[in-house]
Amino acid sequence: MGEKIKFIDGKLFVPVNPEIVYIKGDGIGPEIMEASMFVWNKAVEKVYSGKRKIHWKEVLIGESALKEYGTLLPEDTIKEIEEHVIAIKSPVKTPVGGGYRSLNVELRKIFDLYANIRPVRWIEGIPSPLKNPENIDLVIFRENTEDVYAGLEWPAKSSQAASVRKFLEEEFNVKLRNDTGIGLKIISEFATKRIVRKAIEYAIENNRKKITIVHKGNIMKYTEGAFLNWAFEVLEKEFGNITSSNEKDGKIIFNSKIADDMFQQLILYPQEYDIIVTPNLNGDYLSDAAAALVGGLGIAPGMNIGDEVAIFEAVHGTAPDIAGKNIANPMSLILSGVLMFRYMGWLEVANVIDTAVNETVKSKKVTSDLATRLNVEPLGTMEFAREIVKNIDQLV
Ligand code: NAI
Repeated sequence: MGEKIKFIDGKLFVPVNPEIVYIKGDGIGPEIMEASMFVWNKAVEKVYSGKRKIHWKEVLIGESALKEYGTLLPEDTIKEIEEHVIAIKSPVKTPVGGGYRSLNVELRKIFDLYANIRPVRWIEGIPSPLKNPENIDLVIFRENTEDVYAGLEWPAKSSQAASVRKFLEEEFNVKLRNDTGIGLKIISEFATKRIVRKAIEYAIENNRKKITIVHKGNIMKYTEGAFLNWAFEVLEKEFGNITSSNEKDGKIIFNSKIADDMFQQLILYPQEYDIIVTPNLNGDYLSDAAAALVGGLGIAPGMNIGDEVAIFEAVHGTAPDIAGKNIANPMSLILSGVLMFRYMGWLEVANVIDTAVNETVKSKKVTSDLATRLNVEPLGTMEFAREIVKNIDQLV
């Protein structure tokens, strides 16, 4: 029997036999979960020789939950994730139509997972459009709950949009065309400050040296501009003892960049960036662009973190076009697991998997998504996982 991971006095307490919740997901989900679990379990076994062991507990979300419970997101699943504090999931399918909201957005809301964290690092051997992709090693902190993603929008022809237009005209003398759709961009001091604090915490724990606030405050002064001001307030006032805008101080440096400039900076001078903190929409665009520079979405890991629950998952979706064919690349989920092990403090396991993945890719043992670009014979999903495990065996 496993024991639950807990927060005690705000600190994560991980027993030697933690019970961790997992979601197999839909499409390629079950295949990449099986391959990833094989790698994670072998790494834990190798590093701790049986002194630590994960006890996996499956919960259902998505199509499989609909079949079993008649609902996409069962109460039992929510309760289990809440009680277990950490979950790792494969992508799930949100059925189109039927009035279903995105299950991922739903999960973020239920557990207030306000920080979407996406590390972007090049792995030697992976094709990249950059000449020196090894210069990329950054982490994007995307605010996950506000901005234009808050769902406050109404179609042009709706009574709500008409009411907002009327209000704007009567109260502020702002006249909009009658066929104007309305969406609200909202950014609060509370949500801004908490994600900046999370990024600083992460910088300290992971020995990161620089934090860049990315915003479009020159145009959207009271949302994006305010994001920048509030972020700097936290950096200067709450963490002034360890952060500074002056490189000479030897502290964690902070600066800011306007979002459009950031895109060219990312391509021209990626070595200048370490941690990027940004509102929701900028973060969405930036993280996909950054992922493209190191090999694409198929290998990009991610995590969604709140104060009580953390859910680790690959950035990509269920890839229905390749499901069931044993060709999916499990790397994004395997590396999401590496983030989970770091979060748990099982750093030896994280490092061993990281190194073994690097070695496997370097020797051009890869799944078909990368094999075609490298002009080598592809490995199947599970075969690729076995190669990683072989490398783990050689390391430990
Ligand atoms: P997708 O990310 O599933 O696929 C885009 C392309 O990338 C496809 O050609 C696919 O074959 C390829 N691809 C993705 N992951 C791969 C992997 N591990 N190895 C090799 N190739 C890979 O995006 P799409 O098609 O827009 O979405 C499909 C479904 O996934 C939708 O139902 C959507 O709602 C869901 N979705 C779920 C997410 C989640 O649960 N976190 C996130 C994004 C989408």
